[in-house]
Formats: sequence, C-alpha cells, structure tokens
Amino acid sequence: MNELGGGTRPLRVGLLGWGAIGAEVGRAIQRGDAPGVELTAVAALHHHDDLDELDVSQVAPGDLPSHCDLVIEVASQQALIDYGPDLLAAGADLLVVSVGALADDQLFERLTATDGGRLMISTGAIGGIDILSACRQLGRIDDVHLTTTKPAPVLVQSWMDAELRRRLETGTEVVTCFSGPAREAVLRFPTSVNVAAALAVAAGSWEPVRVDVVGDPAASRNTHVIDVRADSGDYRFEISNRPSPQNPRSSHVVPFAVLRALNVLAGRPGEFV
Ligand SMILES: NC(=O)c1ccc[n+]([C@@H]2O[C@H](COP(=O)([O-])OP(=O)(O)OC[C@H]3O[C@@H](n4cnc5c(N)ncnc54)[C@H](O)[C@@H]3O)[C@@H](O)[C@H]2O)c1
Repeated sequence: MNELGGGTRPLRVGLLGWGAIGAEVGRAIQRGDAPGVELTAVAALHHHDDLDELDVSQVAPGDLPSHCDLVIEVASQQALIDYGPDLLAAGADLLVVSVGALADDQLFERLTATDGGRLMISTGAIGGIDILSACRQLGRIDDVHLTTTKPAPVLVQSWMDAELRRRLETGTEVVTCFSGPAREAVLRFPTSVNVAAALAVAAGSWEPVRVDVVGDPAASRNTHVIDVRADSGDYRFEISNRPSPQNPRSSHVVPFAVLRALNVLAGRPGEFV
C-alpha cells in the first residue's frame, strides 16, 4: 500500500502522457504548486524538449508503478485501456482523465475490481459531479441531459459524411452533429465528450444520460449545459471553459482540476471533498 492521504513522505506521482494536460500538471508540481506532491516519473509517447529540461525519470508506461504511488493518466482512452489494468494490478493508484474509456463496462469492472491500486476519476472539465454522486446515494436519477457546444471544427470526426464535415469545418451555421445516448456520444467523439462519461459514472448508470453535441463556428469556449432531474431535486449547471492554449479540444481548467485532486490526496487542509 502507498501512503495517499497525508502520509509522512511526499506523494510520489507519475504521469502517463505529456500533452496539454500532462505538461501543465507536471510543470505545476515541479514549481511546488502541489505541496506534499513530488513528480517522480513521466511516460511519454514521443520526445519532448521541455521534459528533458526537468529533473524527472522518463520511463515506459509499465514501469511507472515502481517509481510512484499514484499514476495520473493524461494520455488517451487507448492508453487507459492498454495500461490501466496492469498499473492497478502492480499496486499503483490511478487517477484518470480519459473518462470516456469507462463506457466499456468490462474495462470499468477490471479497473474497479482489482485487488491492487485504487481507481480515481478526475472531475475534469466540469463541476456538479459531487452533487450528482450525492443524488445517487439518496435515490433515483431520472434524467441527465448534457448539451456540449464547442468551436465547430474541433468536432470533426472520421465517421462523418462529407457534407457534415464541410458544415463543421467551413460553415457559418450552428450544427447539432449528434443527439443520443451518452455511451454512443463517447464512442463517436472520443476526445470531446469525456464529460458525458463523467456524468454517467457519477449517476451510477449510463441509461438516464442523453447528449447533444453542437458545433458553433462562432464559439470561443467549450460549453457544457447539464440538466438533472432526480429524487433529491432538480439541478442545472452551465460551464463555459476557455479552451487549452495547447489543445482546443481540451479545456484549460482540466489540469487544475487534477491539481486540486492532488491537494486533497496529499492531505492539504481546508480542501473541499
Ligand atoms: N475528463 C475531462 O473532462 C477531460 C477534458 C479534456 C481532455 N480530457 C482527455 O484527457 C486526455 C489528454 O488530453 P490532452 O488535452 O492533454 O491531450 P493531448 O493530445 O494534448 O496530450 C496527450 C498526450 O498523451 C500522449 N499519449 C497518447 N498515448 C500515449 C501512451 N500510450 N503512452 C504515453 N503517452 C501517450 C500523446 O502523445 C500526447 O502527448 C485525452 O484523452 C482527452 O480526451 C478529458
């Protein structure tokens, strides 16, 4: 067992991925923005000059557990599928941001049933996950409706026909390019609607979660409007995030959601839980 939760030594963190989110998290830890947390290893797919400048071990994904207590997956759904179960089995705790991968029930079972490390899920780009989880403890969640609006070109996918692609890439109209169940939304937009998966996991079921994905040529933000009807009450959250300067598909707040989680895990007093 490692010492998450305010042990006597720093929480040793390894990053799986060094992209928009991973690099921001890694540099913040190195700056000392997460007291009680130490960046001990990074597993990156490619060479990164800025990573060479940091005093941190670069290792293969499978070697992360021998360098750290907690692996943070900031790579891709595929990386979580490929490495998640083995990282947990090797005893590392695992905090994931590529939440869409959890649409695969078998993977979710493997990640949560292991005798090794503990799976944790980043709140990522949205808030309200806490109250949704609380609703689920109290009773039924009848309906969760997510409308995600992003700058139109970032939503283009390989499965789209030429006309839909054209409307998203160069059109001037707002386009609803998907309406349907959350599980399908996550499969169709693997890097753009992790939020739908987060809502389904928080609600404890994919069934009540419906998603609209909207491309807006004039949008400069990634917006999520979430309407919930539950036994405990009705809720509406509207989140309008600035995109990451490094990756317009991601929101700039996401690495800071990860850092907040690290503060909780490292036992910093006065944090919300
Ligand atoms: N939960 C949320 O709300 C939320 C929000 C935004 C992004 N995300 C997800 O977070 C993930 C990272 O986002 P990002 O904006 O940093 O993406 P990014 O493309 O900027 O960075 C991902 C990095 O991971 C690397 N990578 C991919 N597969 C890897 C592997 N097998 N081993 C090591 N490195 C690997 C890539 O080379 C890249 O450098 C994506 O899956 C994205 O969909 C989740």
